[in-house]
This record gives sequence, C-alpha cells and structure tokens, in this order.
Amino acid sequence: MADDRGAGGGHIELSGLSKWYGQQQVLDNIELVIESGEFFSLLGPSGCGKTTTLRLIGGFEDIEHGSVRIDGVDMRGVPAEKRPVNTVFQSYALFPHKSVADNVAFGLRFQDCTKAEAKRRVGEALELVRLNGFESRKPHQLSGGQQQRVALARSLVLRPKVLLLDEPLGALDAKLRRVLQVELRSLHREVGITFVYVTHDQEEALTMSDRLAVMNTGRIEQVGVPREVYDEPCSTYVADFLGLANLLPAEADDRGVQLLGVEVATATEGTRGPCTVLVRPERVTLVAPAEGQLRARVEHVVFAGAATHIHLQVGSSALQAVVPNDGAALAAVEGGEVGLRLAPDALRVLPA
Ligand SMILES: Nc1ncnc2c1ncn2[C@@H]1O[C@H](COP(=O)(O)OP(=O)(O)OP(=O)(O)O)[C@@H](O)[C@H]1O
Ligand SMILES: [Mg+2]
Repeated sequence: MADDRGAGGGHIELSGLSKWYGQQQVLDNIELVIESGEFFSLLGPSGCGKTTTLRLIGGFEDIEHGSVRIDGVDMRGVPAEKRPVNTVFQSYALFPHKSVADNVAFGLRFQDCTKAEAKRRVGEALELVRLNGFESRKPHQLSGGQQQRVALARSLVLRPKVLLLDEPLGALDAKLRRVLQVELRSLHREVGITFVYVTHDQEEALTMSDRLAVMNTGRIEQVGVPREVYDEPCSTYVADFLGLANLLPAEADDRGVQLLGVEVATATEGTRGPCTVLVRPERVTLVAPAEGQLRARVEHVVFAGAATHIHLQVGSSALQAVVPNDGAALAAVEGGEVGLRLAPDALRVLPA
C-alpha cells in the first residue's frame, strides 16, 4: 500500500537491513527512518558501509536481509529505474561528446515526455543549478564544479522523490566544495525533495544536514541533528569522529566525576567507576592557576589566524584549547602553567 507521509513523499524506512559480501558482513541490522524532504547525511570513515546503504536504497544491490520501504512501499525486487529515486555519483561520468543540454535530457528519453516538454524541463533543471546559457557547451569546456552541477541537473530533471548523493563534491578542491555546499543546501530548499547525502567529511555533514547518522563498521552509532550529535555524542567514537575532541580519563564515584582529584561534574545515575570526560577545545577556558582547580602545563601556543590553538598537558593526558583571537590577552605562555575552567554544561561523561 502506497502512502505519501510528508507532502512530497520521499519517506524512507530501513528496517533490520544487513548485507554480506561473501563471508564479510558490511551492514549490520540498520534501523533508520528518513523523513520526507529531509537533508539527511550518512557520515563515517572509509569502508563503514555508506555507499552500500545508498546502493540498497537506490536498487543497485539486492535486498536480502531486512527491508527498504519508500513511502510505505517495500522495495525488495523493485528495479532501480522503477524506484522514485535518483543517484548522483562521485564520478559524475557525463557523456563527453554530448552537449550540456543533451546530457541533462538523457534520462528523459525513458520517460513519457514530448520534445517540447523535455526542452522545458531541461531548461528548468539548468536554471536550478544556475547553468542556463551553458546548454550547448561540451563537458570538457566546463570547470569541475560546473560538471558537477550538470550531473545534479541530470538527476533533478527526472523529478525523483529522493536524491541519493554519494560524495558528490569529493573530486573538487576545498574552496569550490564550500561554494557548492552552500548551493546544494539552497537547491535542496528549492526542490523540497529528500536528499540522502554520503560524506566522510564531518564539517560538511554538520553544516549541510537537517539530521545525520554516524556509522561505524556497518552499524549506525548515533542519529540526530548536527548540534546534538556534536554536543552530546553517545560514545567516544562519535565524539572523536566529529571534530576535535579532548577525551580525558576520569573516575565517577558517589560524590561526582573526578578528574585528577578535582570534581568536574555531578555523577549521573548508573555511571560509577572509570569513565571518559569529553570537552571540546572551544569550551576550555584558561584562567590564572589557583588552588583546588585543574591545572595544566602549556606545551605549545600555535597562532592560526582567527584563533590560537593551545596544546596543554593535564596529568598524563594531552588537551587542546582553542581561544578566539578577539583582542583579549592570552593567559597561556609556552612552558608556563594555567588553570582550566571547564563549565559543567561543556562536559560530557561517556563510558570509558
Ligand atoms: N562489491 C563488493 N564486493 C565485496 N566487498 C565489497 C563490495 N563493495 C563494497 N565492499 C566492502 O564493503 C565494505 C563497505 O563498503 P562501502 O563502499 O559501503 O564503504 P563506504 O563507507 O562507502 O567507504 P568510502 O568512504 O571509502 O567510500 C568495505 O569493506 C568494502 O570493501
Ligand atoms: Mg563510498
């Protein structure tokens, strides 16, 4: 039974989804719901199963264990071209001898669509990716970013309910990536369909997504909105994967969480014994050293333009602080000692 859930459809439900290649299990019981119209990212290191997940949604791999449902319809046995889904691959493989317009129009020949209608839709798709005026150029006459936009237009012209994007900006340099990240984000708002975006770049996932899933060797470790996953990671793996994380060994007892003999947080229910305290570098405040306070030795002070990175040694652990260069005097001098103020709301106590 089909049902559309959100207004435009594109609701995805993965349930008990597993995948083996021979003896190797590459996806392990994935449970995930992606809402209609969401910009959802799958984030994780190389080999964790991101592309495999996309291929199962897109219909390029057989669904053998578990299910993929799109707008309530079970996709098992449904061929790729019959799914309301289109994929933009990392290598965007345009036809080199066809013009931009013909590249974009290519998929329409398999749809019931008159010549005039096709022309209008190609025009619309090129407008969406800001490439009108480039219709008669050949791919080799375009920059990398422009070629990437042709690949996007080629998918959008088919009006899928879901667009799967597998590291679409991977081949581009850092500056162009940032430009296209912003463009993709506003394109998503404009077309209103579901985007499932694969990346191993944590900053990209944090800045672009409505929600994201962090994957670890075939499993989903955490799902949430970017701020939640960054500020409240459920594990040291997630904390470490999303940006710089100071992970300090601590001990929880009935009084609180002790870090080098200083109580830094109140102990929560159930956490007793060895634990790990997470604090992001931008949440470490350096103050003049005082009794009863955490203290650190200043190893290196590194100027980085907008901020200064301060490498500290706290007991046997290394710790990084990032201090914005806002004109205030810096409390740290290489070789000196500083006090550390860690606001309780900046700390997260994780299982060791
Ligand atoms: N056709 C295949 N046959 C056998 N093993 C495969 C096949 N495709 C992928 N794998 C393996 O499955 C695992 C997951 O691969 P996948 O391509 O999903 O990773 P990924 O998260 O997309 O990584 P990357 O960031 O490097 O693209 C890897 O260990 C990979 O070697
Ligand atoms: Mg991949």
